[in-house]
Amino acid sequence: MRCRVMGTYPRSEEDEKFVGTVRRRPGRWAPQRSSARIAGGSQSFAGREWSRASDNFFRTRSMAASLRHLAEREFPLRDGVHYLNHAAVAPWPRRTSEAVCRFARENAAQGALDYAAWLSVEAQLRTQLRELLNAPSAEDIALLKNTSEALSVVAHGLDWHAGDNVVISDQEFPSNRIVWESLSTYDVEVRKVALSGAATPEEALIEACDLRTRLLAISSVQYATGLRSDLERLGRHCRERSILFCVDAIQSLGAIPMDVQASCADFVMADGHKWLLGPEGLAVFYCRAALRDQLTLHQYGWHMVEECGDYDRSDWTTACSARRFECGSPNMVAVHALNASLTLLLETGLQTISSQVLKNTQYLIDKLDDIPGMKLVSPRRDEQRAGIVSFRVTDLDTAGLYQHLSRRGVVCALRSNALRLSPHFYTSRQTMDAAVELVQSYVSAS
Ligand SMILES: Cc1ncc(COP(=O)(O)O)c(C=O)c1O
Repeated sequence: MRCRVMGTYPRSEEDEKFVGTVRRRPGRWAPQRSSARIAGGSQSFAGREWSRASDNFFRTRSMAASLRHLAEREFPLRDGVHYLNHAAVAPWPRRTSEAVCRFARENAAQGALDYAAWLSVEAQLRTQLRELLNAPSAEDIALLKNTSEALSVVAHGLDWHAGDNVVISDQEFPSNRIVWESLSTYDVEVRKVALSGAATPEEALIEACDLRTRLLAISSVQYATGLRSDLERLGRHCRERSILFCVDAIQSLGAIPMDVQASCADFVMADGHKWLLGPEGLAVFYCRAALRDQLTLHQYGWHMVEECGDYDRSDWTTACSARRFECGSPNMVAVHALNASLTLLLETGLQTISSQVLKNTQYLIDKLDDIPGMKLVSPRRDEQRAGIVSFRVTDLDTAGLYQHLSRRGVVCALRSNALRLSPHFYTSRQTMDAAVELVQSYVSAS
C-alpha cells in the first residue's frame, strides 16, 4: 500500500578550572565567543522560553560556573564514579530519572487515564528531534527501537538490483556493516573502504563510488577511533550523483550539531542512550520525505496507517508521514525519558555542547600526550574529532589498563585494542584528571 497522495560568556580563572584549559598549541581549539545557552532547570519546552531562561542565567554566571552548576544539579553521580563512557551508554540527567519516576507513579495510580497527555509528550519529542536534526518537519521523524532497526528499515526497504553496490568504511560498528552485507542475497556488493588510504577519509569514500553505487553509509563519528566525517562534503557528492546518503549518527547526535538539510542526508538514525543522554531502546529515524515511498515496508500494524485510531474501519492506507515506519504502540516510558533528556540538550544549545565536548577531548589528549609511549588512535584535528579519545601505550597490555581503570571507578571502554574515553559537555576536569592519573600510575608500574 502506497500513500497517494547563543549570549557571550566571560573567560575567567574559574572557567579554566572547569574546562581544563591547557597548553595551547598553534592551530588548536581556542575558546569561541558562542551564543551559549544554559538554563536553570526549566522543564519548559517552548524555544523562546528556553532562550529567555538561559539569557537570564548567563547574565549572572560564567560559562564554567554554569556548567558546574548544571553538572551538580543534573548528574549526581556517586563519589568515586568517573564517567567517561558516553560513547557506550550515558548516565541519565536527574530530570530524566525524575520524569521516569513520575511516569511510573502515574501508571501505578491511574494507568493510562491521561493517555492524551502522553501523546502530547510524544508529539513534543518529535518536535525536539526535528529541531536537533534541522529536519524540515516533525512528520519526517519516526521513533524506532534502535539504530540497527532503522538501518534495517532502509537496507531492506530499498529496491536493489543485482550489481548495485553500497559504500561503507572499514571502521563501521557491526550494525552499519552487517545490514549491508545481508544484501548479498540480492547480489549487492559492499565496498569497505580503508579510510587511511587517501588524502582524506572523505576522498577515499568518494573514490570508491561509481555508477553502480546506490548508497553510501557512514557513521558520523566512528565508534572505535572517534573519527568524525565531513558529512556535508559526502552528502554533496552523493546528491550530485544520485547516490543515497545514510548516516548512522548515534556517536554524534547530542554532542555535535547535525543538519540533515545542509548535509544532504537521506536517512539518519540514532538511538537515545549515548550522547542524547536518554534510555536504550528508543531511536530517531529521519527519512527525507521524497524518499518515504521508496522504502517498502515489512512491518504492519494499527499505528502505521493514516487512519490510526479508527479501529472499526476495514480499509486503510499507509500513513503519509514517517509514522508509517512505526507499526505498533510507542515505547512511552522511553518517550518520557528522552523528552526530558532533550530539554537539557536543547536548553544548553548544541553549539555550546559541541565546543565543550571538543575542549574536553582536547584536554584529555593534551594530558595523555605527557605519558611516554602514548599513541593516539583518535584524530588530533578538531574537525575530525568529537567526543571520543582512543589510545594505546606502546608495549602495554591495553586490556590490563582497562581493568586497572574500571576497578577504580573509571567508566570507559576497550575498543579495537584501544582504551576509549568519551566525556560529554558537562564532564569536569576532575573526572578527566582522575582517569589520566590512573593511566599514568599503571604505565609507571608496568
Ligand atoms: C556507530 C554505532 N552504530 C550503531 C550502534 C548500535 O546502536 P543500536 O544498539 O541503537 O542499534 C552503536 C553502538 O555502540 C554504534 O556505536
